[in-house]
Amino acid sequence: VRLETHLVVSAAGWRTLAHELDLGRAELEALADVVYPVEDIGAAVASGSFGIDAMVVAPCSMRTLAAVALGLSDNLITRAADVMLKERRKLILMVRETPLNLAHLRHMVSVTEMGGIIFPPVPAFYQRPQSLDDLVNHTAQRVLDLIDLPQPDAPRWAGLPDGAGQAKDA
Ligand SMILES: Cc1cc2nc3c(=O)[nH]c(=O)nc-3n(C[C@H](O)[C@H](O)[C@H](O)COP(=O)(O)O)c2cc1C
Repeated sequence: VRLETHLVVSAAGWRTLAHELDLGRAELEALADVVYPVEDIGAAVASGSFGIDAMVVAPCSMRTLAAVALGLSDNLITRAADVMLKERRKLILMVRETPLNLAHLRHMVSVTEMGGIIFPPVPAFYQRPQSLDDLVNHTAQRVLDLIDLPQPDAPRWAGLPDGAGQAKDA
């Protein structure tokens, strides 16, 4: 599969990158085919005619979730997300917050009603992850599956062995 990636990072996103990863801005940008400033609301991905297949917001702040839910299109991320919803294309918001207030929950319902997918990056402990990398990779693989980029090497749940998981006194 030839995959073309377009990257947009908010100002707060750059701060989050600096706090949370040993990855500089230039290194992240080098991973994408095209990079846009978040203020550039005239960029190609701001138009439905450009033909983006899928968009993932990772991680998605409660601010961006709210802006998408309300159709604000106030920067290139929320405008591109708005385009995905209006064109009925795949939009995945990897919302990250806990605990959740009623506004967060209502906005998640709104986005779901409009066809978006709410995908909180919740760790899968059944994989018995040995490292943070294992956790992150598993989440990334699940998201790539969802946007039709199947990950053949991803570990899959194959069901419990016979008898496992039953109550002791059953
Ligand atoms: C290091 C760092 C981590 C953050 N993590 C989160 C988060 O996980 N979820 C969230 O809703 N906000 C988080 N915030 C707050 C958002 O960055 C803030 O609400 C900001 O206005 C979001 O703007 P954006 O949606 O344009 O990226 C974080 C901020 C910083 C500095």
